[in-house]
Amino acid sequence: MRKPMIAGNWKLNKTIAEARELSGDLAKCLANFEAVDIVVAPVFTSLAAVQEMIKGTAIKLAGQNCYPEETGAFTGEVSPLMLKDAGCEYVIIGHSERRQLLEESDTFINQKIIKALEAGLKPILCIGETLQERENGDMLDVLANQVKGGLANLSATHMADVVIAYEPVWAIGTGKTASDEQAQEAHSFIRGLLQGMFTKEVAFATRILYGGSVKPSNVDGLMAQDDIDGALVGGASLKAEDFIRLVRFEK
Ligand code: G3H
Repeated sequence: MRKPMIAGNWKLNKTIAEARELSGDLAKCLANFEAVDIVVAPVFTSLAAVQEMIKGTAIKLAGQNCYPEETGAFTGEVSPLMLKDAGCEYVIIGHSERRQLLEESDTFINQKIIKALEAGLKPILCIGETLQERENGDMLDVLANQVKGGLANLSATHMADVVIAYEPVWAIGTGKTASDEQAQEAHSFIRGLLQGMFTKEVAFATRILYGGSVKPSNVDGLMAQDDIDGALVGGASLKAEDFIRLVRFEK
């Protein structure tokens, strides 16, 4: 069976002191909570402080992005090896905010996935359609292109370390969650794509998270769906009480 994952993407929030406080609260309540993979992704400047607070607990650290080079003249960027060095186990790649604001392409995202895997990091590949794409009837094509582009040149073995996050752009930070059925439909489609690209075993074993206004009031319904293996959470991951409730979802 797939182990559920609840990942908090803190986005551009929290000073070092605030990050220390939030991760300290999570560490106190979730130190030995092994039933779910718990992941937090602070801004780069807080990685060291958060790592110090969660060390020895069940909580794992993630970067919010990486650049597909080890070192060199790439001002402002952070490499997968550096994230690994800072204590990260995971890295979020291809978030829709970066696709939209920084025009990240599937090819570039694929390079990052490959470099992250080479560095021993587990990538969380984000995909998802915009409202316009959904309304135009293009949702399935968009998801297929993002999955195929993002996971190009990967083997079935690589896939053991890859997590996918389906995040419909229209549901991110808007308070509008996809219904349980809408999310399940997309997740089941993505799992079918994985079967076509890799094997039935890979499709069955790969975790697919849902993201987009996940909160304590809707997490249980989403987690009850067959193909939803967890959540990538923005807003509700910034308050310890809410995030802890998400981790302790009821099925
Ligand atoms: O990475 C997280 C997603 O963008 C969801 O953000 O929970 O604030 O809607 P949200």
